[in-house]
Amino acid sequence: MNASAGLRLVLHPDPVLRRKAVPVISVDEGTRELALEMARIMAEEEGIGLAAPQVGRSLRVILTAAMPDGSQMARTWINPIVERLEGNLVEHDEGCLSLPEIRGMVRRPPLCVVRATDEHGQEFRMEAQGLLARCLQHEIDHLDGVLIIDRFTPLDRLANRRKLKQLEAGG
Ligand code: NI
Repeated sequence: MNASAGLRLVLHPDPVLRRKAVPVISVDEGTRELALEMARIMAEEEGIGLAAPQVGRSLRVILTAAMPDGSQMARTWINPIVERLEGNLVEHDEGCLSLPEIRGMVRRPPLCVVRATDEHGQEFRMEAQGLLARCLQHEIDHLDGVLIIDRFTPLDRLANRRKLKQLEAGG
C-alpha cells in the first residue's frame, strides 16, 4: 500500500510547517513514494521546489525542479545538510506554495554547498548558485520550520500584512 497516495499541499498557518522535521532513517520504497507524490504536487502547483512538511510530512526530504535556465535537473534531496554558504547576501523576490499570493524580498548568500542522499540511497554533494542556491536554502528552511515571512524585510512584512491575516483567518 502506498502511504503517500493522496497527499495535498499544506498552507500556512498549519502547525506542521513550524515543526522541525526529522531525518529519514533509511531510504526505502516509502521514501520514493513520498518523493513521487511530492513531484506530482510540485508540478501541479508549478513550483520550483517543495519540502515534505508542505505535504504534511515532517520528514527531512526536499525536491528541486529542473531550473528554468536548464542548468539543473529535477532532484530529490534526503537529509540535506548545508556544508557551506558563501558570498555577500543577495536580495531577491521569493514566494512559497504554502503562502499563496504572498511575495517579498529575502536576503541569502548566492552560493551554497549541500550534501544529501538521493532516492536510491546514494549520497551526493553539490555546489549550487543562482536560483538553485536560493531554492535549496528556501526548502531547507522549511525543514527547520522557517518560512519566508520570517525572513522578509520589515517593509515587505508590512506590505503583506493584510494578505497574511486573511490567510491565517482561513482564506
Ligand atoms: Ni516554500
